[in-house]
Amino acid sequence: MARMPIIAGNWKMNKTPDEAVAFVRELTPMISHSDDVERVVAPTFLALAAVAAELRGSPVKIAAQDAHWESSGAFTSQVSVSMLAPLVDYVIIGHSECRAFLNETDENVNRKAQAVLAAGLKPIIAVGESLEQNEAGETVPFVRSQVRTALAGLAPKDMNNLVIAYEPIWAIGTGRSASGEIADDIIKTAVRDTVAELYGVDAAAAVRIQYGGSVKPENMEEFMAQPNIDGALVGGASLVADDFAALVEIASRVKGRRSASA
Ligand code: 13P
Repeated sequence: MARMPIIAGNWKMNKTPDEAVAFVRELTPMISHSDDVERVVAPTFLALAAVAAELRGSPVKIAAQDAHWESSGAFTSQVSVSMLAPLVDYVIIGHSECRAFLNETDENVNRKAQAVLAAGLKPIIAVGESLEQNEAGETVPFVRSQVRTALAGLAPKDMNNLVIAYEPIWAIGTGRSASGEIADDIIKTAVRDTVAELYGVDAAAAVRIQYGGSVKPENMEEFMAQPNIDGALVGGASLVADDFAALVEIASRVKGRRSASA
């Protein structure tokens, strides 16, 4: 089964609601023809409602950047999946910045994955090793353990409705990306093979896995040409409409037709 490529722009703490709306107004016509690629933007919580109103009827989908696993209660600062459900299709969880600044744990990522799926939304689960772990040769066991805990207790069919983003922390916002071949190797051995061990080869063949970390138009083709890489989770380049459109264009050219003919 061919996997539909997915390009998601994680805007992090960028763009006011007005700026976010102006941006999608500019971006949407540039990427609306690439129906063989799933196109997703992830504004801040504050901009979600305005962006959702602007994108109503558009092929461009929306992700939240986080969600709490409880539906309501005494959780100051948090937003629940049920609050997000009318506005978004995807929820990014486990981003390394949340792990670093908000003490996100693998166990909470798992709670969030379950809540997101139960609400009929799709989690984009981010995993990835630090520079120290990478240099110590710990990447594969570490990422495997992140994946195992994040996916604990899910069903094989859930693998059709979630995305895993492999984002080496040392490549995020640094301009220093993994090579396509190395990223593909880690994605295969640490992510796809782990899904196969947990949920079987069919689930592993179906799950979509993105690379993230300093993805830009200049290196996108190298990533998209890899057999195990199904798209990108993009920070900086997703804030520039021309770059976002170029990433979608490259994904469509390299993988789109194959996916559309499946
Ligand atoms: P950059 O593309 O800016 O390196 O960010 C990657 C990222 O963290 C996406 O979630």
